[in-house]
Amino acid sequence: MGSSQGMATLGLSVIPPWSLLCALGALAALWCSCRVLAAAWLGPRRVARALRSQGLRGTAYRFPSGDMKEYVRLIAAACSEPMPLSSHAITVRVVPFDHGVIREHGKVALTWFGPEPRVVVTDPKLFREILANKHGQFGKQKSILGIERLLANGLTTHQGDKWVTHRRIISHAFHLEKLKRMLPAFAACSAELVSRWGNSMGSSDAQEIDVWPEFQNLTGDAISRVAFGSSFSEGRKIFQLQSEQAQNAVKMANVMYIPGYRFLPTKLNTRMKANAREVETLLKGIIRKRERAMKDGHADNDDLLGVMMESNIREAQEAGSSKPTMTTDDIVGELKLFYFAGMETTAVLLTWAMVVLSMHPEWQDRAREEVLRVFGKNQPDSEGINRLKVVSAAEQILI
Ligand code: HEM
Repeated sequence: MGSSQGMATLGLSVIPPWSLLCALGALAALWCSCRVLAAAWLGPRRVARALRSQGLRGTAYRFPSGDMKEYVRLIAAACSEPMPLSSHAITVRVVPFDHGVIREHGKVALTWFGPEPRVVVTDPKLFREILANKHGQFGKQKSILGIERLLANGLTTHQGDKWVTHRRIISHAFHLEKLKRMLPAFAACSAELVSRWGNSMGSSDAQEIDVWPEFQNLTGDAISRVAFGSSFSEGRKIFQLQSEQAQNAVKMANVMYIPGYRFLPTKLNTRMKANAREVETLLKGIIRKRERAMKDGHADNDDLLGVMMESNIREAQEAGSSKPTMTTDDIVGELKLFYFAGMETTAVLLTWAMVVLSMHPEWQDRAREEVLRVFGKNQPDSEGINRLKVVSAAEQILI
């Protein structure tokens, strides 16, 4: 008995604690490697086999970044040359990788965003079916950059029940009657832009203007006004920061094929995190101010924030809950998305509209003549906008 106790004591004393730690560390590393291998090697291969067996063609998976390196390389190559002046061929410039994949593999093609399969679809009927997503079969792509919290974590990234609930609450803000009430704000922003351009002309007949930053300001101003009403000046700071975030996200996209890049303490990552914190602080300040005004009964809730907050409270009341359905963080995410989804998209559309109208001055003349005939010197209203046939035909073609 005594000797066996002695042996046990001897046994324990020869295993130093650090070697136990090393063994545990090795086990943890092995476990992590197995998980990485399963997620980035075996998983994609299994999915690829399943999809190919259903007849889907596309690129072969390359460990670990899939097609991302090629995606970035082709965009850089396409943008290194200016577009020919009369060309409308934007697809090959904006999404050259997808363009090539579709040409090679057909109208529904499998590609790889890292280890995540991504199916490129070009049939408008399928777009409709996918975006309606009635039965929830179509999952959204998990952001490979993991930057949705830094940029915009709202409807576009939510899935399942969370998406359904948020969508129901937010859709109130986009009812036609509510949008009509926003027209004066859009008109005020546009009038300011046109008068600034007029003043910059001085006595000259022609003046070159870089319209891209001008339209970013216009759409940022318009969203700040319709989203926050009287808190519009705070909104302006937010759109400047969100705009910088969008540019930084593009820079990040250029290195997205480096696994774990977003965790490195680079200047870009640090700046994006600092901007995200500042945007969140500003938005939370605006939300708190609005909550106080709503409690005191003197909130003007005609703007996007007001409509969203009111329908959020109503949704909770209908569900019999005392707490609002969307948290403050949820509202912050959706507001960030309004900027990101509404500002850059519309600024790009307006810029491209200017480019195409410059290529086709006869359409410029027809659109100008129609606008002057319908509105003269009056402010645009929704009834008049519905009568703009040439302008809406041009808009349809552009989109
Ligand atoms: C030319 C202008 C625009 C274009 C081309 C455009 C395009 C799109 C597309 C393709 C989607 C689907 C994205 C996805 O599901 O992954 C989307 C979603 C969305 N857009 Fe826009 N958009 C434009 C303007 C706006 C504006 C002005 C706003 C609002 C301020 C806005 C707010 C949203 C929101 C909230 C979603 C998410 C909808 C959902 O997931 O249910 N967009 N947009």
